[in-house]
Amino acid sequence: MSGSIIGCAWWLLPLLCCHLIAAKEQYHEFVIRDVPVERLCRSHDVMTVNGQFPGPTLEAEEGDTLVVDVVNRGRHNVSLHWHGVRQMRTGWSDGPEYVTQCPVRPGRSYRYRFTVAAQEGTLWWHAHSSWLRATVYGALLIRPRAAAGYPFDGQPARELAPILLGI
Ligand SMILES: *[C@@H]1O[C@H](CO)[C@@H](O)[C@H](O)[C@H]1NC(C)=O
Repeated sequence: MSGSIIGCAWWLLPLLCCHLIAAKEQYHEFVIRDVPVERLCRSHDVMTVNGQFPGPTLEAEEGDTLVVDVVNRGRHNVSLHWHGVRQMRTGWSDGPEYVTQCPVRPGRSYRYRFTVAAQEGTLWWHAHSSWLRATVYGALLIRPRAAAGYPFDGQPARELAPILLGI
């Protein structure tokens, strides 16, 4: 009996190792700052991440760990929320200001660190403080692990760039 249990564990070992080796940690620096953005022939100063509007797209595979240093070079308090991510034992990285953290003050920084395990999908991230969410946002794509495949037969017919609707 115990022999067969050890036999099972022996077969599982390489699978567990592969999973651990395949999961990556990725690092990003998100600098919050004002930049002039032109829309409808007029220029406005808006808060951005790294001067981009919409902000950078984060692409991860299920199981990856994301480390995002938010550096606030703007004039307002800010925090970021990773919308749709199930924070598992990393609630302090969820982002709503005054709920899971104090906002990041101008001149300060904050490190978000979380693992996107057992979850996949096309999500987004956005500022979770006052009206800053109007311009501080971007896409967050969590792909299935290459070996896991999609929850349907075959591959998607094609992939489109994410479409973000702002106000
Ligand atoms: C900015 O955040 C700090 C805490 O991090 C808070 O004490 C302060 O009142 C906030 N300022 C504004 C203008 O909300």
